Amino acid sequence: MEVDRASRPIDPGILARLQARLDELGGISEEPGRLTRWFQSDAMRRVNQRMIEWGTAAGLVPTVDAIGNVRLRRDSAVVPTPGVPRPLLVLGSHLDTVRDAGRFDGPLGVLTALACVEQLQAWGKVPPFDVEVVGFADEEGLRFQTAYLGSAFYIGQFQEAWLGLRGEEGVTLREVLSHEGGVAESVLAAQRTPDGLIGYLEVHIEQGPHLESVDRAVGVVSAIAAQTRARLLFTGRADHAGTTSMELRRDALCAAAECILAVEAKARSVDGMRATVGQIAVEPSASNVVPATVTLSLDIRHAVDAVLAAAVEQLKLETARLAAVRGIGLRWEILQEGTAVPMDEHLSAVLRSGVERVQRDVPVLVSGAGHDAAVMARVCPVAMLFVRCRGGVSHHPDEFASPTDIAAGLSVLADAVCRLADGDVAVSGKGIR
Ligand code: GLV
Ligand code: MN
Ligand code: MN
Repeated sequence: MEVDRASRPIDPGILARLQARLDELGGISEEPGRLTRWFQSDAMRRVNQRMIEWGTAAGLVPTVDAIGNVRLRRDSAVVPTPGVPRPLLVLGSHLDTVRDAGRFDGPLGVLTALACVEQLQAWGKVPPFDVEVVGFADEEGLRFQTAYLGSAFYIGQFQEAWLGLRGEEGVTLREVLSHEGGVAESVLAAQRTPDGLIGYLEVHIEQGPHLESVDRAVGVVSAIAAQTRARLLFTGRADHAGTTSMELRRDALCAAAECILAVEAKARSVDGMRATVGQIAVEPSASNVVPATVTLSLDIRHAVDAVLAAAVEQLKLETARLAAVRGIGLRWEILQEGTAVPMDEHLSAVLRSGVERVQRDVPVLVSGAGHDAAVMARVCPVAMLFVRCRGGVSHHPDEFASPTDIAAGLSVLADAVCRLADGDVAVSGKGIR
């Protein structure tokens, strides 16, 4: 029997299971002693397997697609009209992690989505649309420095040019996808936008301090900031560390060091900008050899596209100048460019109504972090709910969201799906109005 919306409590058993699953996935890693799951790793396969088992136990139909996204689907009871796709609501986030990650970034959204479907079933709620819980295969870009491989595939926008990307271990994306006798091109041929997409909802840990500072469990995202990822290649000359005078050196690492500080100075000078050099590789990397080549990663973000674009152009000029002064060659490779992504107004309003039920007011936040929702927004309305993050700490093993705040997040998500199911918001095959 269906339970009235106003009196719906979240089932403590479902919450306890969600917590236990978060703990379990937090222990599935490629590296001993720390949480690291990269794209197409054995740890990702093990995590997907657990999702399949949990989804199957909940009566969902599980699949893992050709790129490695795990999908758990519940079809609505509505009889489809021939030739017309049934509407589909997608709930999810990612299951890959950064290196030495926290347990919540990504899995919280996937497991809350699964718990939401379980809760709807416990309430006897059968939406008039299909629901798919998705655990995306690559949002962090740890292996190929290009984020969103999973969600890009999900919407049929995985680019063939990406197959040439080479990861840290020297293997290309083409090689990774060509395992077990398959060819990468045939993997790509399998991608297509799901039929009938009406919207995408993602719950995610905030990864910043705002909700904590205003003492609220959850908040609604207004937009995801624009981001550019680049690789900077510095070329100098290897020389003897004991015999080469300081004047004659062409030390690639000293040039790179100046450029790292220039990146920091630029970000500090622009309100709301974030810029990070998170990876550095030095060759030949010996204590008695002047560094010949250096490769840096650059991740730079701002909520306003034009501000970000201007900063990138200024940094290109400034780093070229700094390198030239030292006789060092510098090449920039842009790996990824994403514009700022506003959330859908109507779908966000559905989340806001749910937030009003669990707390006094509704904080609205811009996300500095990237999310699969930014990719899903290319094909359907999207909205995101943030859950408070202790100390704002994320991409770190100390990352933490409390069980009470997670319960608030689940409550809001379940409320939102019920509202959509009840027709409080007009839903059509083209999306939500
Ligand atoms: C994902 O966590 C990102 O914003 O880098
Ligand atoms: Mn992350
Ligand atoms: Mn994330």
